[in-house]
Amino acid sequence: REEQRALFIIFGGTGDLAQRKLYPALFNLYKRGYLKKNFAVIGTARRPWTNDYYRDVIKCSIDGMFDSQAQATDFASHFYYHSHNVNDKQHYEELKALADKLDEKYDLGGNRIYYLAMSPRFFGTISQYLRSEGLVTERGYGRVIIEKPFGRDYQSAKELNDEISRYFDEDSTFRIDHYLGKEMVQNIMALRFDNGIWSALWNKEHIKNIQVTLSEALGVEERGGYYETAGALRDMVQNHILQIVSLLTMDRPKSASEKDIRQAKVETFKALKVYSPEEVYQNFVRGQYGEGEEQVAYREEAMIDPDSMTETFVAGKLEVQNKSMAGVPVYIRTGKRMTAKMTRVDIVFKNEAPLFGGGIEPENVLTINIDPDLGLDLRLNMKKVGQEFATKKTKIGYRLSKEQVAKIPEAYERLILNVLQGNAVNFTHWDELKYSWRFLDAIRNAWDEQELPVDFFPNYACGTMGPQASAELLEKNGDHWIY
Ligand code: BG6
Repeated sequence: REEQRALFIIFGGTGDLAQRKLYPALFNLYKRGYLKKNFAVIGTARRPWTNDYYRDVIKCSIDGMFDSQAQATDFASHFYYHSHNVNDKQHYEELKALADKLDEKYDLGGNRIYYLAMSPRFFGTISQYLRSEGLVTERGYGRVIIEKPFGRDYQSAKELNDEISRYFDEDSTFRIDHYLGKEMVQNIMALRFDNGIWSALWNKEHIKNIQVTLSEALGVEERGGYYETAGALRDMVQNHILQIVSLLTMDRPKSASEKDIRQAKVETFKALKVYSPEEVYQNFVRGQYGEGEEQVAYREEAMIDPDSMTETFVAGKLEVQNKSMAGVPVYIRTGKRMTAKMTRVDIVFKNEAPLFGGGIEPENVLTINIDPDLGLDLRLNMKKVGQEFATKKTKIGYRLSKEQVAKIPEAYERLILNVLQGNAVNFTHWDELKYSWRFLDAIRNAWDEQELPVDFFPNYACGTMGPQASAELLEKNGDHWIY
C-alpha cells in the first residue's frame, strides 16, 4: 500500500462529524498503512483547545479501534489544534505558519486537503482566505472537501459554487455524498456492466419499473434545527437517492475512466424529466410522521415548529428520458420513523403471461440489498417438485459473509482515500448537482405554492411505510412496492 503524504486542515475540527466519522476514518487509513509517518492534521474551530486536549479527543473518537495505547498515542501525535475564527485574516497567517512548519517536519511535499465540515455559509470566505493568504502551495496539490448541504436550491447552490470555484477548480473540489462510498452502491455499476445478462435486460423493453427505498427507523433526533429547513426532499432525495438513480439508469460508460463515468452520469441527470406543478402533484407524495406507541410526533420533537409543514417522507415517480430507460417508472421513497432501516433497490422485470399455473411470481425481481444486509436476491419461478407440473415462487440470494462485511471500509474512509489519490469518481460533480437541483426545485416550488391545511400532517404513524398515498402512487400504474 502506497503511503499518501498530506496535511489535512479540518475546519469544524471540534464538531460531531469530525469526531464520529473523520477521525475514525483517518485512523483506519493509518491502520491499513495508507497514512504512516508522513501525514499531519490541523483541526481548527473556535474553541480554545490545546494540542493535548485535542489529542485526547482524537483518542476518544477512536476508542475501541486501536490495538495498543502506543498505537493510539502515535496516531494522535500527528494532530495539531489551531483555534480559529474563519472571518479573521490574521488567523490564516498563523494557520499558514503552522501548516508550513508541519509540512517540513513531516515531509509532506506541499500536499494539502482542506476539509470544510462546517456551515456552508463559511465555505466562500474560507476558500478565499486559503488562496489569498497563500495556504494553497505551489508545490503539491490543494484539494477541498465539501460536506452537504450544497445549497438549498439551484440558485443558492450556484452562488456557492461560483464562490468556491473562484479559488479551487472543479478537479480539486470534492463534494461528498457518503452513499457513493457504500460497498453495494459501488457494486451497482459492476453488476450492471460486467454481466451480460443484466446488460441485455437493463432497458425499457425488459424493465417494468425500478424501486429505490431508503427508509429509516430513526426520527429527526437532535437535528431538528437543520431538518426543519431541509425536509426529506433536500436531505435525502436531492443527493443520495438521485445518485443511486443515476447509477441505475445511466447508459454504459465508454470506459471505466473517471471522465467517461462522469459523463454518462451527467447525461442521466440531464435526462431527468422536470415536472410541471400538475405533474408534481400527480407523481410526488409527501408525509410527516405522527406519534407511535413510544415515539412522539415530528411536531413534538425538539426545535420543531408545532405547526411544521416540513416533510419527513417523500415518495415519487421519476422518469429518466434517455434512450434505454425512457418511460420506465422509477419509484423512489425515503422517510424517517418508518418500519425499519432499509436501503435497497428492486428492479422489476416484465414477465410474459404464465404458461404454467401455480403460485407464481408475476414478475422477476432483482433486489440489491445495500443496508443493513449486503447482497442480492433474485425472484424466479421454478417447477414444483414432483409429478404435478406447476410452477412456484423461488428466491435465490447471495449475501456478503460476515468476514467480508468486516473488511469493508466505512464510507468516509473510502472517500478520503479517493481524495488522497485524486480520484473524484465517487464525488458529485457540479454538472450533476446543477441538474439535480433543477429537478428538485420544480417539486419544491410546486409544493410551496400548494396551500395545505395544517392538519394535512401528520399523515403516517411511526413504524409504518409512510402515508397511504405512497402505495396509491404505484397502484394507479398497476404497480406495487416490492418491499
Ligand atoms: C444523511 C442525512 O445524509 O444520511 C440523514 O442527512 C440520514 O438525515 C443519513 O439519517 C442516512 O445515512 P445512512 O448512511 O445511515 O443511511
